[in-house]
Amino acid sequence: MRAVVLVGGFGTRLRPLTNSIPKPMLPVGQVPIIERLVENLARGGVTEVTLALGFRPEPFVAAFPDGECAGVAMRYAVEPEPLDTAGAIRFAAATAGIDDTFVVANGDVLTDLDVGGLVAFHRAKAAEATIHLIAVPDPSAFGVVALQDDGRVERFVEKPAPGTEPSNLINAGTYVLEPSVLARIPAGQRVSIERATFPAVAGDGGLFAMATEDYWLDTGRPELYLAANLDIVRGLRRHDRCVAIAPGAQVAADALVADSVVGAGAVVGAGASVARSVLLPGAVVGDRAQVADSVVMGRIGDGADVRDCVLGADGSVGPGERAEGEKRPDPDAT
Ligand code: GTP
Repeated sequence: MRAVVLVGGFGTRLRPLTNSIPKPMLPVGQVPIIERLVENLARGGVTEVTLALGFRPEPFVAAFPDGECAGVAMRYAVEPEPLDTAGAIRFAAATAGIDDTFVVANGDVLTDLDVGGLVAFHRAKAAEATIHLIAVPDPSAFGVVALQDDGRVERFVEKPAPGTEPSNLINAGTYVLEPSVLARIPAGQRVSIERATFPAVAGDGGLFAMATEDYWLDTGRPELYLAANLDIVRGLRRHDRCVAIAPGAQVAADALVADSVVGAGAVVGAGASVARSVLLPGAVVGDRAQVADSVVMGRIGDGADVRDCVLGADGSVGPGERAEGEKRPDPDAT
């Protein structure tokens, strides 16, 4: 089974972290998101993945120099310009020569979904396209479906106005598609699978969906990226475990690190404390500094107090400074 994984987005909501690393290459529990995703596809029977790339392809190609990840052959389709989700799927499928049933995954989703089970459901329904669904309390920020009892999608509505959602079941970002879906997507144009293609397939009665209660998290916002890391150290994932403090990290003997992930090359100074946070490779926490509920790539000075912050590679908090609820550098600054 072949798969296309969408990794060409800008990752705007995760800035400033994505100023230096594309979102799917950010580590979750020491392992890049894309690698965890490909491992789960491999468990479901996928043997070849084509990365649909646009914005900044180099880090992906460099990460898998042998053209292999988790035992899966990796191919790269680099768009000449961003084609949006459906345009990117069509371009990648053409690049890889896909002409049979295939899987598509959003490159920022972490899930324990049994992908083989989704493919089996798709085949049993003779569907043209099948979407994995997850139930959420507030579906208005997602693609929401109205389902019939047999799993056929009556309507697919992208980001419905609050209060108008047809259900609480949302598009969880893993699909099984027939090649006929590709023929519905105009070539070389920006087309959204959520706004254009899925509503059209649903209108023709060929869109099905399968809801599961698997672990599922879209890492697209800083608080969710932090949660994804903490879920792994807390052992909440079915398959995945992680070493909380990487062997290559330098943590002072009297520093306190609790419920956190510390990457290789990160430094935690004497008497510092780090709680419910992620220190990425290259992060520096000065002596006696306190860090809580934060994601840090940059530098925190001695004695600083940092809470609920996101520091990109160029972000810093000065010695003795207090920062709460901030992003540095400011992603909205011009
Ligand atoms: P934000 O800018 O924060 O919304 O993040 P994003 O750019 O990743 O957008 P979004 O989360 O909505 O995208 C869903 C998936 O589609 C992600 O895995 C993106 O990488 C991918 N994606 C979005 N647009 C494109 C595109 O034009 N080309 C390709 N190849 N992938 C895309």
